Amino acid sequence: MEKWFKICLLLCLFGVLKELRPSEPFLTQYLVGPWKNLTTDEVYSEIFPVWTYSYLALLVVVFLVTDFLLYKPVIVFEGICYIMTWCVLIWGQGVAAMQGVEFLYAAATATQIAYNTYIYAQVPLSKFQVVTAYTQAALLTGRCIAGILGQVLVATGLCDYYTLNFISLAFVSAATVVACFLPNVSQSIYFHHGVDQITSNDSTASETEWTLASVYQLLWIDFKSSFSNAYMLKWSLWWAFAMCGYFQVLNYIQPLWETVAPSGTNNIYNGAVEATHTFLSALATIAIGYAPVNWSVYGEPVIAVISLFEGAMLYLAGSSNELWVAYVTYMAFCITYSVLITIASSEVAKGLKQESYGLVFGINTFLALFFQTILTLIVADSAGLALEPPDQFKVYGGYYFVLGVVFISMAAYNAGRRSN
Ligand SMILES: *[C@@H]1O[C@H](CO)[C@@H](O)[C@H](O)[C@H]1NC(C)=O
Repeated sequence: MEKWFKICLLLCLFGVLKELRPSEPFLTQYLVGPWKNLTTDEVYSEIFPVWTYSYLALLVVVFLVTDFLLYKPVIVFEGICYIMTWCVLIWGQGVAAMQGVEFLYAAATATQIAYNTYIYAQVPLSKFQVVTAYTQAALLTGRCIAGILGQVLVATGLCDYYTLNFISLAFVSAATVVACFLPNVSQSIYFHHGVDQITSNDSTASETEWTLASVYQLLWIDFKSSFSNAYMLKWSLWWAFAMCGYFQVLNYIQPLWETVAPSGTNNIYNGAVEATHTFLSALATIAIGYAPVNWSVYGEPVIAVISLFEGAMLYLAGSSNELWVAYVTYMAFCITYSVLITIASSEVAKGLKQESYGLVFGINTFLALFFQTILTLIVADSAGLALEPPDQFKVYGGYYFVLGVVFISMAAYNAGRRSN
């Protein structure tokens, strides 16, 4: 078997296993249920915001050390973070312990960067696209199976929300074992090139000093050349704003469902909903890849219209008292978001050297989390307005509506300029 293919298989296996967390669609129900006895206010305004703040703080650290530590240890660490997350979730009690869970979970989310960039450090350039496609498919497959598994086990009464957490723990533990079998990366991307370029000029200086200086310099050169292009900058900013709203919706959709239909009173289909939109999003993403559309011309109007649509979906989700409306609007939101982000990332990637992908995507995610931290503080945190979930969703709806209006104005302006 060729080396890149073996790596690809291991990465896919790790990806499927780590996403097999059937308890996740039912997290809110678990926390407010008899196992933890937390109030909804504690969960929504004191516990869930911790994920956003920790992710923002950890992303910077992870971004800087991933390349330095040569990827693999960070991937193993991701698995360990998931294991610790579920241990505290199962055996911890109280608000502080659950804030610890959110912190550990944020660490696992942030270290995902290593999984995405390991490919670039380890797989030949010609296979890069294939392996990326397979690993993304693996992640989606894992998520889809997790949703179905969770739904079936809950609906048949075979498992309660507590037992589901043990299944998640088993799968993330298996994923961590798989990660240990990944081959080591022998050279870093930034640090290696940095030393080569700079030490040849002055071999007397201390190597550590030169290494760090050169890494910053390389990052800065990449940063300048990537973001000095106005087209890139526009798409990156839009991307960051859209991702901010998306993260926020992901974090607060379960509280919305729980508010509309408190657990115990209704049949809950959280797992089925997650599985369905994951599957449909994957199909939509593939379809977009084949669509013969010139996105540099039609991207703006399409994005503007979809943003308005998403605003309407979220507003509707916040205004309805029906659980099925909240389910359907959420699925519509997720599917259209994945279409948007596919267009946005391919437009951004067009203007980039391949080795700058990681940097640009990292910076866009950082911006998204920075905006999200502000949004969370104002809307959800107990230090801010701590709005009820339905009111939060009206705010998120308005947020996408504004994004849509800004993009429509830009599209109209550009169309006007082109016709002159
Ligand atoms: C939660 O509350 C229920 C009912 O008051 C009680 O039976 C149960 O032991 C409590 N659980 C914990 C973990 O405190």
